[in-house]
Amino acid sequence: MNILPKPQQVTTLEGTTTLHSPLRVCAREWRDEVRAWAEDLAKSTHIEVEFVEEDDADIVFNLASDLDGYRLHIDGQIRVQCAWSDGVVQALTSLRLLGPAELYSAQRVDLTSFEVPNCEINDWPAFGWRGAHLDVARHFWDLATIKRYVDLLVMHKLNILHLHLNDDQGWRVEIPNWPKLTSVGGWRNGSPVGHEDDNVRDTVRHGGFYTREELEDLTHYCALRGISIVPEIDLPGHAQAVVAAYPELGNYPETQLEVWEHWGISDHVLNVSDTALDFAVEVVSYVASIFPNATVHIGGDECPTTEWEVSDLAASVMEQHGFESAQQLQGLFTSRLSEVLEESGHQVIAWDEVLDAEVPETTVIAAWRSEEKGVEAALRGHYVVMMPMQYLYFDWLSSENPSEPVAVHPAPFVTTWEKVYSYNVIPSELNSLQRKQILGAQAQLWTEYIATRDRMDYMAFPRLSAFAEVVWGTKEELDSFRPRLVRHLARLSLAGVQFRPLDSGE
Ligand code: ACM
Repeated sequence: MNILPKPQQVTTLEGTTTLHSPLRVCAREWRDEVRAWAEDLAKSTHIEVEFVEEDDADIVFNLASDLDGYRLHIDGQIRVQCAWSDGVVQALTSLRLLGPAELYSAQRVDLTSFEVPNCEINDWPAFGWRGAHLDVARHFWDLATIKRYVDLLVMHKLNILHLHLNDDQGWRVEIPNWPKLTSVGGWRNGSPVGHEDDNVRDTVRHGGFYTREELEDLTHYCALRGISIVPEIDLPGHAQAVVAAYPELGNYPETQLEVWEHWGISDHVLNVSDTALDFAVEVVSYVASIFPNATVHIGGDECPTTEWEVSDLAASVMEQHGFESAQQLQGLFTSRLSEVLEESGHQVIAWDEVLDAEVPETTVIAAWRSEEKGVEAALRGHYVVMMPMQYLYFDWLSSENPSEPVAVHPAPFVTTWEKVYSYNVIPSELNSLQRKQILGAQAQLWTEYIATRDRMDYMAFPRLSAFAEVVWGTKEELDSFRPRLVRHLARLSLAGVQFRPLDSGE
């Protein structure tokens, strides 16, 4: 049995069960989720699903409202119990993982039946937030590539896709009243070649953006597969693409900037006028309207105050509010955006820098700079998602081997898959009550140095597989995990994932 992440409880039973196409499924609810699973299975095999009403069907679903996850009983017949659609997705994922690796084949194989071991699985996630972030700003990814990534998240029972939708180097979502965000801000005329510090640039135009309809389609695709999208609009820093499109929103309205062709943190941030604040509110509210039930990420990281410190406007706004440092100006954005989003029923999350200025206690903190930031946020009463870069930034080197592809930092900033697996989501400093503030954890895939799908695979896997088990809450000794990971990688290999081999560079 090779389910990864490992289930909480497994009882093996004697024998096996063979399922033949068409699989007869009795599901009075959750048919859309079953159909999505069947659609995915049909991309790899010739196995079809047919809905029936009879209780002697091959697969029977029943409601068990006390379950956090799912119960999967296989003994001639497959019986699934769960309380809600996430459990359905998790149970069907486990069933697919119990079958041969070909069930995940990237090429459609000639398979019309498969065998699974008889067993009873009782399984549930330790954390409600099992996230994977994808930077679609530094490099634009088409929807097919994002959906393929989503399929891999589903395989690993992750349930949040955080889309980083704008940055200095590109704006990726169409906004009706602000067309230049995409016509100008969506495109840059060159990108670094090799590492940013090498100071070599190409002149290749790069860009793209998503329409509302495309994002709605993606949301629907994700929802049927147990994944919620967390859209991020990152303001007031990381705003050079915005200011290139609308110079009046920046601190030097007479200067026409380009969408940034460097990696790093641009000094060009939004100004602190009412116009800029209203812009932020309008745009973030519009994006939130595309994702009606979502938690919305309002960014807030790495906002240099260089321009604000020499701005007369910023000085007068500081005086008006009695601020002593320019950094406090960022709180104006955080407070207004949080207030407006909460009014429309959205939960709000922001990077941990927002703790350095005014921030409502209801804002969830994305603790990325260190574990300590997560502890600080929890002690201040915030809910927290743990994303410490030292463990969960997959744009870091995978090993110290000089043959590793160029990454954001040089050694010793290395995150091996073993280091990811060693990560404990709950910081040891927190007591049993404070621990409840930790909603879960999230792995980050920043894409400055990831321009192709193959590179995306290499940087994400196997680190994301290790992370999935950490955040599911069933990690064990590395020695027991490793052989399971090796077998899991055979499955990823058939799925066409160009993962980093376990032993290269070790
Ligand atoms: C970040 O990595 N700047 C959140």
